[in-house]
Amino acid sequence: QKHELRFWLNGKPVVEKNPDPNESLIHFVRRKGYTGTKLGCSEGCGCGSCTVVVESFDYATQKVVTNSVNSCLAPACSVDGKHVITIEGLGNAKKPHIVQTVIADAHGSQCGFCTPGIAMSLYAAMKKNPHADEHAIEDAFDGGI
Ligand code: FES
Repeated sequence: QKHELRFWLNGKPVVEKNPDPNESLIHFVRRKGYTGTKLGCSEGCGCGSCTVVVESFDYATQKVVTNSVNSCLAPACSVDGKHVITIEGLGNAKKPHIVQTVIADAHGSQCGFCTPGIAMSLYAAMKKNPHADEHAIEDAFDGGI
């Protein structure tokens, strides 16, 4: 029997043979070189610096569902068949995503350690509701320190 983890990471297919069921998603993506996602508290509720976006297809509604996920708690195997987006998949200094631009323009990066998580939370919030008001955006940042 084949034991494979298959998912998309920043738009590229990933196939991991015999994945470690105990490996967290953050350790997996960082091991693959996506080190923009940071490990802070490692508790899933303390800092949000590990936040990534997970997209999946909901067959009942026939729609793509976008969620922000604390990758320090989520097992890598939980994203089988899904699409994981890290900060590297959003944009970079040469070609930033609008979410990164507004955070930078508003001096919202603070020390910078958890900024990737903030950007991913904002990205997920805007994907879920492009017309989100100030309070909805604030709610989306609840997981960040
Ligand atoms: Fe702090 Fe995941 S590392 S919530």
